[in-house]
Amino acid sequence: MKIIAVANQKGGVGKTTTTVNLAACLAEAGREVLVIDLDPQANASSALGIEATPGRSLYGVLTDFSAGRSLAEQIQPTAYDRLHIVTAELDLSGCEIELAADLGRLTRLRRVMEAYRASGPSAEFVLIDCPPSLGVLMTNALAAADSVLVPLQCEYLALEGLARILTMIERVKQASGHATLLLEGVVLTMYDARTNLSQQVVDDVRQHLGRQIFDTIIPRSIRLSEAPSHGKAITAYDPSGAGAQSYRELAREFLKRQV
Ligand SMILES: Nc1ncnc2c1ncn2[C@@H]1O[C@H](COP(=O)(O)OP(=O)(O)OP(=O)(O)O)[C@@H](O)[C@H]1O
Ligand SMILES: [Mg+2]
Repeated sequence: MKIIAVANQKGGVGKTTTTVNLAACLAEAGREVLVIDLDPQANASSALGIEATPGRSLYGVLTDFSAGRSLAEQIQPTAYDRLHIVTAELDLSGCEIELAADLGRLTRLRRVMEAYRASGPSAEFVLIDCPPSLGVLMTNALAAADSVLVPLQCEYLALEGLARILTMIERVKQASGHATLLLEGVVLTMYDARTNLSQQVVDDVRQHLGRQIFDTIIPRSIRLSEAPSHGKAITAYDPSGAGAQSYRELAREFLKRQV
């Protein structure tokens, strides 16, 4: 089981879109996938057609840690074969406050995931959709993860944003004693072939990070932005469109990189 945090402290760069659609494409390719929605906005949950329900999230598992509640009891099936989810709820935002005073707060989720791993889970890949703020939840996700996948929007000053997230990954590694956290890769999102800027961002970022950038680039696509309001992954909403094809290609490349 490999745990991948999908993270970028910048809002609206495609974290949730990438989590949901990469997960759906990995499941379509025959892999067992678990999505953990760690954002109180619960966008990944609704994008997969599942409503946030009070009591169904990691909130209790993380805050009432001594009760020994497990991740497994929060897992729900989705409409997709091999794709399961732990939904988010607004209460999750309370974790920021409740855990703030707790000494072991950075590694709560890591301990929950260790217990889950030891239980012999069926999930091969766990994708954690992180909130955009640099708080306790995102830190917990990075401390629990084996690797970080960073969606990066093709826009002005993208490189500065990338530098910030790389610095933050280093900080979390030190603060949580997690020296083995890897960069899974950077996925360029919302690429617009009609603008020079998009191509320039791709060239700049490739020059700086080389192979750590996925070859697959996610194009800007109306279909990708419409799918969440229908509660569907792109593989169900527009299975043969450019958006679905790009996420399938990303899933193939992602799998090829796993040795
Ligand atoms: N490739 C794309 N083409 C067009 N629209 C996109 C694409 N990717 C994401 N979007 C849209 O951009 C907006 C932000 O995307 P998304 O919610 O995935 O970002 P996020 O990083 O998860 O945001 P937040 O930081 O708020 O959690 C959404 O409305 C989404 O539908
Ligand atoms: Mg999001």
